[in-house]
Amino acid sequence: MAKEAKTILDLLKEKRVFSPRKDFSENAHVKSESVYKKASRSREAFWEGFAKELDWYKKWRKVLDWKTPHSKWFVGGKINISYNCIDRHINTARKNKAAIIWEGEPGDSRVITYWDLYREVNKFANVLKKLGVKKGDRITIYLPMIPEAAVAMLACARIGAPHSVVFGGFSADSLRDRINDSQAKILITSDGGFRRGSVVPLKKNADEALFGAASIEKVIVVKRVGEKAQIEMKEKRDLWWHELMENAPQYCEPEKMDSEDMLYILYTSGTTGKPKGIVHTTGGYLVGVYATTKWVFDLKEEDTFWCTADIGWVTGHSYIVYGPLANGATSLMYEGAPDYPDRDRFWEIVEKYGVNIFYTAPTAIRVFMKWGEEYPRKHDLSTLRLLGSVGEPINPEAWMWYYVNIGNKKCPIVDTWWQTETGMILITPLPGVTKLKPASATKPFPGIEADVVDENGKSIEVGAGYLVLKSPWPAMLRTIYGDPERYVQQYWSRFPNMYFTGDGAKRDKDGYLWLLGRVDDVMNVAGHRVSTMEVESALVDHPSVAEAAVIGKTDELKGQAISAFVTLKESIKSNSGLVDELKKHVTKKIGAIARPDDIIFTAELPKTRSGKIMRRLLRDIAEGRALGDTTTLADPTIVRQLKDKYEDKEG
Ligand code: WTA
Repeated sequence: MAKEAKTILDLLKEKRVFSPRKDFSENAHVKSESVYKKASRSREAFWEGFAKELDWYKKWRKVLDWKTPHSKWFVGGKINISYNCIDRHINTARKNKAAIIWEGEPGDSRVITYWDLYREVNKFANVLKKLGVKKGDRITIYLPMIPEAAVAMLACARIGAPHSVVFGGFSADSLRDRINDSQAKILITSDGGFRRGSVVPLKKNADEALFGAASIEKVIVVKRVGEKAQIEMKEKRDLWWHELMENAPQYCEPEKMDSEDMLYILYTSGTTGKPKGIVHTTGGYLVGVYATTKWVFDLKEEDTFWCTADIGWVTGHSYIVYGPLANGATSLMYEGAPDYPDRDRFWEIVEKYGVNIFYTAPTAIRVFMKWGEEYPRKHDLSTLRLLGSVGEPINPEAWMWYYVNIGNKKCPIVDTWWQTETGMILITPLPGVTKLKPASATKPFPGIEADVVDENGKSIEVGAGYLVLKSPWPAMLRTIYGDPERYVQQYWSRFPNMYFTGDGAKRDKDGYLWLLGRVDDVMNVAGHRVSTMEVESALVDHPSVAEAAVIGKTDELKGQAISAFVTLKESIKSNSGLVDELKKHVTKKIGAIARPDDIIFTAELPKTRSGKIMRRLLRDIAEGRALGDTTTLADPTIVRQLKDKYEDKEG
């Protein structure tokens, strides 16, 4: 059991413990473990405490209405999120505080104060209204990491139009599917974006997506790249952002949203080929992200907070936009790649803006490790006081490297476990109180009831099993857009009355949780969720392919890399040109994040007698292990041949 086993073994052997430093604890929002008890005594009162720190038009009648698996939080409450993220701060000393500090890849930058953000969001909300957008209309946002992405999200929230942000790295086909699923009325995009010095052709992708996405009436285009982008504006349909903003009125009354009104849809990969539109609502979501931003990151008034995620993922939604701004913080946003123009770009940014809190993914940390310490050493990182990790299991070596080389052994690391579906961080240290063990996400946040269970849903006190959640939390997804049945099936059917996360976890004798990765057909490639089925359908869509099976194989840098086993149609001969062509085809169908690392042609795939592809065996092959039990196979010779072939290729 090559690498995978090694990481799990490393975890089991990990014995180091780091207690919070006294000076950190003394100044932290949470200084004592008593918060856990207090929250478990009355979960509802606990969350209500945070809700009271926000501004409501009308107070809730009831904190929680729970009819498994459907929850309503802050029932009867009326609130507007853009008001809470902006207006609430402009009558205070925060008025001209930086809300967003933005650094563009080519080196341009912008500082947007709360007052600036207030103006921009109000005006853009009016632009949307003028184009006929009403409460409940869906808006798709397909933008690079530029401030307009946050402005657009907040403007949607202001008028009650749910946004559906599509990551700028997705292809035209993926964008089209997401537009069609949500039946969005407006698409907001840009002429392009910068990535490692070249132009990402967002508008061109959008044009292509719109062949066959009839619900879109208007396309609003932000000018980011200019001349170089060479785009065409389609008359009547395409409108420039800056022209629309010129005459837009300066104030737009925020919509009084019900706590349970939809805030956004965010598509994520599941165990089928079709992405799921995760639905988040207003009141509970805001309370959840507000509370976790404040406590997990120990966020203070003077902090500059940098979450390196893209706004196209949930981490960007909750911890670049909504969580930090609801707290009146300064949120940093960076447009480009970590190695452009050089491998010290992140550390240059930390130094330039005096970043205090830095939140990134293990994949990035492992890449920094590979590049070496010389890059962070070039910069003064002494402003950092807390580090975070998210998106995939972190290994002890990466944790230690981060702790020593970025945190200078003085910054606590919060390894935060959560999902698009959970909306907010659920398993995490509290930096002022939790003793850290490298590579453990430690304990559920106060008020969160997580458990590790066996096949039958029975709790495992010490040992490994399935990670489940046993009671609702405010920012939980409410449903899957347009598919309420799938919501129940997907999350609430595996174990009765429990939310199944799809993750494996181990609990140690101190009650600490160690995340072990997905146990379903979802891969985690460089912190991005990719479904095996989606990649398989993209492959099968190619005219030469008869059948495909895709697995995630352990990868030192990316966590998992994509391996595809492909059988070709009879008349087709395999060749290396075809490997490239298939890789390109998947990139075109889904996006570069889903591009397979290896494609192996095989005459047949290993199947059980009932015709089910044995992915477990494919994983054994790809990871160089001895083959597990092959007795259930219809034809065991296939898998042996395939193993030989794979080893030849590797050798
Ligand atoms: C994985 C990202 C281990 C997990 C916020 C989960 C993690 C999936 C961690 C959700 C962590 C996220 N340790 N694994 N700290 N955080 N994961 O929806 O498998 O993009 O189910 O949300 O990422 O990915 P998603």
